[in-house]
Amino acid sequence: MEHNKIVKRMTELKNIIEEHNYYYHVRDNPEIPDATYDAFVQELLSLEKKYPAYKLPDSPTEKVGGKALDAFKPVLHKVPLLSLDKAFDTKSLKDFDRRVRKILGKNTSPSYVVELKVDGLAVSLTYLEGILQQGSTRGDGLVGEDITHNLRTIRSIPLTLEEKVSIEVRGEVFIPRQDFLDLNKRRVERGEIPLANPRNAAAGSLRQLDSTVAASRPLDIHIYGASDFPINLNSHKKLFDYLKKLGFKVDNTVKLCQNIEEVIDHCLLWQEKRLDLPYDIDGLVVKVDELNLRNILGSTARSPRWAIAYKFPAETGITKIENITVQVGRTGVITPLAHLQPLQLAGSVVKKATLHNEDYIKDKDIKIGDFCSIHKAGDIIPEIIQVLKEKRTGKEKDFMMPDKCPSCATTLHRQEGEAARRCINPLCPAQKLERLVHFASRSAMDIEGLGPATVEQLLNSGQVEDLADIYYLTADGLLSMERTAEKSVANLLAAIDKSKKQPLSRLLYGFGIRLVGVQTARVLARQYHNLAAISQASPEELSNIPEIGPKIVENVQAFFKQVNVQSIIEKLQRAGVNMKEEQPVAEKESTLAGKTFVLTGTLSNMTRQEATSLIEEAGGSVAAQVSKKTDYLLLGEKGGSKLDKAKKLGIPVITQEDFLDLYHRS
Ligand code: IVH
Repeated sequence: MEHNKIVKRMTELKNIIEEHNYYYHVRDNPEIPDATYDAFVQELLSLEKKYPAYKLPDSPTEKVGGKALDAFKPVLHKVPLLSLDKAFDTKSLKDFDRRVRKILGKNTSPSYVVELKVDGLAVSLTYLEGILQQGSTRGDGLVGEDITHNLRTIRSIPLTLEEKVSIEVRGEVFIPRQDFLDLNKRRVERGEIPLANPRNAAAGSLRQLDSTVAASRPLDIHIYGASDFPINLNSHKKLFDYLKKLGFKVDNTVKLCQNIEEVIDHCLLWQEKRLDLPYDIDGLVVKVDELNLRNILGSTARSPRWAIAYKFPAETGITKIENITVQVGRTGVITPLAHLQPLQLAGSVVKKATLHNEDYIKDKDIKIGDFCSIHKAGDIIPEIIQVLKEKRTGKEKDFMMPDKCPSCATTLHRQEGEAARRCINPLCPAQKLERLVHFASRSAMDIEGLGPATVEQLLNSGQVEDLADIYYLTADGLLSMERTAEKSVANLLAAIDKSKKQPLSRLLYGFGIRLVGVQTARVLARQYHNLAAISQASPEELSNIPEIGPKIVENVQAFFKQVNVQSIIEKLQRAGVNMKEEQPVAEKESTLAGKTFVLTGTLSNMTRQEATSLIEEAGGSVAAQVSKKTDYLLLGEKGGSKLDKAKKLGIPVITQEDFLDLYHRS
């Protein structure tokens, strides 16, 4: 065939296949028999094999999977993929409605859209002029992993859109329940281990370097949003219609409600009917429908104020408490732990449940040998609801909290007003172990291969005493330990080396300062950019940061005052561990990013809420008081003492017009 004819036929086949992909996978309504469809695919495949140079870049044959990658590339999300606040009962939905209305003011009545919350994996898809360019995981919301090769294989993800538009959409990838059961049946027949639940199966398929795995799995997607869109839209419901028109598969049950009562009815309806659906849902998502109202509501660092996830009550089960032991945490807190007769609950096997402290055990009257009902709090953490006293035989035993640390035998302290007993020995081996494990954990320095077993060996062999010693480990030292192979030693050393480049926020979180979680560590790192500045910050300065409360200030200050901490930091520095935080690229490009604003006086062409939302959206923040850290004072009419203070400190004072100018340049 001559060139023109080949390309023409390839294009024809591509169009036919895509059209039927759409009817089959998006509409769930095939128009031609499977065999006819397969024949078109085969014809295109054989043409591409014969004339590889003419293969179309967006060919639908990409959906059959292809070459394996060496590693996942990181993808920076231009607009962060936020998570959702959760409501575990209908009262919390009413509270949500009240919060929304309070911000919007008396005269505005929002409508809500309610969508199913499919239990799968969040992904982002980028299209340029109608052609799929990149697909990635949510990751930590700012940076995800490039899994384009796997997402291309999903039949309901269009490779080419119906219009040549550039758009970034977000959705949830999942495996329908029956397909999951069939998949597991085939696995068991082949002697493979069955997968735990549909969500794990979906996530596992997408985190494969080789796309033939994803291609062989019955993956599906619902698109539920877009970060920006090429046409002017004022409602989420209309966005859904537009997404459908472009060729995306969206949740067909989406419902527009005029008030929170309608929302609640709809949520309760699906709670009853959830098993009628061919896929698992773990709740519903309630979103303000009007897009302009969303802008006013804005987001916190973690989640939008205009949406909430209504989560179904957790599944419960009954099991026996076989034993109760205690654990020593990294801050010395002693936690009793129930060892349960293993039980399958909401997608995984539960063997342990924390009992928090001795008061909790007393309140719930828990004894060793008791039967109890349990659920998963927040769908993740197993928790004992109550003891089934009617099942007692008289053989149950009371549990006594130890008065000495099980690890170092130091007498435990229980401070007045505190429920926990603590081991206050800073050299306690169990605490050391937990601190090191936390430092190396995924959310901290992410050192693969440095789990509890290895850390324990390292402590026992005297190779590490503190966090910094990790960076001075040698291959010889590691090989001298039992059951270590050269390959795993090389991998561990490489992982340790790689972790030196982690951003400051992770290092800070890794230190395990009480109350400094992932989010607080990020806030501190972004505010100060380097570790020395944080360690030298005065309590007043720290308390000026809106997200930092007095307890955190106290803990941060106490942490850096410890004598050994300074020497650990020096040791880390000598080893070349990064102690800086770069601003994410997306923020760097924006003139408002990282800037702290203080608002004063009455703004005339926008409300304070609107101004705050605009600043936060562009990566800046708004503080209540003027301080040395303020970058701009945004002045409305009649600015008072804040204006005087800003002038005194030499802080730029800008008008609303200046502000909008800055905003549009960002
Ligand atoms: S909206 C900023 N809508 O739930 C809004 N999320 O924490 C963010 N999810 O893993 C999400 N169905 O992928 C939204 N209809 C839906 C959803 C949905 C499932 C997932 C989402 C994320 C989690 C939100």
